[in-house]
Order: sequence, then structure tokens, then C-alpha cells
Amino acid sequence: MAIVAWREQMSLNYLPLDQEHQDFLKVVNYSLGAAKSGDFRGMEQVFNSCYDYVRNHFSHEEDIMERIKFPDMKAHMQAHRTFIKNISEFRQKYETAKTKEKKIEWAVKTADFLSLWLLGHILSRDKLLKPYLVRLRNLPPRMDYNNP
Ligand SMILES: [Fe+2]
Ligand SMILES: [Fe+2]
Repeated sequence: MAIVAWREQMSLNYLPLDQEHQDFLKVVNYSLGAAKSGDFRGMEQVFNSCYDYVRNHFSHEEDIMERIKFPDMKAHMQAHRTFIKNISEFRQKYETAKTKEKKIEWAVKTADFLSLWLLGHILSRDKLLKPYLVRLRNLPPRMDYNNP
């Protein structure tokens, strides 16, 4: 897979989520290089960044979906859960690969999966949020003392 460039089409016109998507795009692009060059330490970082993304971004996005009463929330959350399952499976295959060649093969498969998934998910699922995000403007500010 080639490097994925950010395009205007991917924007939700909502900076906090766009920023998180762009940050993960950097991880995905980094994974393409790390996988091909057999940079295993880099791949470790990629897997860890995936878990960070899942923890921080998915919960952020799901919290927003709930607040704006996004009608397709259930299916969207399901897509997030499936990604978590997929990434654990890739990690397991990668980590249990017996030879260097097999490890590189699974690293490349992981990087390809990540780039396709990110593009597909943002353009098909996250994009559906865009027209609903204006509702955030009419909501009172969050009373979140841990995260002001
Ligand atoms: Fe999403
Ligand atoms: Fe997202």
C-alpha cells in the first residue's frame, strides 16, 4: 500500500476529531515503512499506538455520538469493536511468527490492513457524523472536571 495522504474529503469540519484522525494517519504511514524494512521495534510502537488510538479516539468519538444522538451509533460502535478484534488478531499472528520473513510478512499485512481500514472507516463511517456535529454547538459545555 502507498502512503495515505490526508484529503479535504476526510475532514469532518470538527478539529478535535480531525486532529485525532490525522495523528493516526501518521501512525499508519509510519507502519507502512516500518513493516517493509523489518523494523520490529517500530512495529511494536505501531501496535501500541493502535491501542492508544482505540482507547482515546474511539471513546471520544463514541461519547460525541451519544451526545449528538447519532442515529447509526450502534453499527458504528460495532465497527470499532471489530477493529479492536482485528488488530489483536494481527498482533498475535505477528508476534507468534516463527521466522523473520514471516514476521515481516505479518507486519506488511498489518500495515496494509491499517491503511485500508483507516481510509474506509473515515470516508464511510466517520463521515456520516459530519452533518450531526453541528448539534454540539447547541449543547451545554461538559461538566468534566478531570478533563476540562
Ligand atoms: Fe469511527
Ligand atoms: Fe474516527
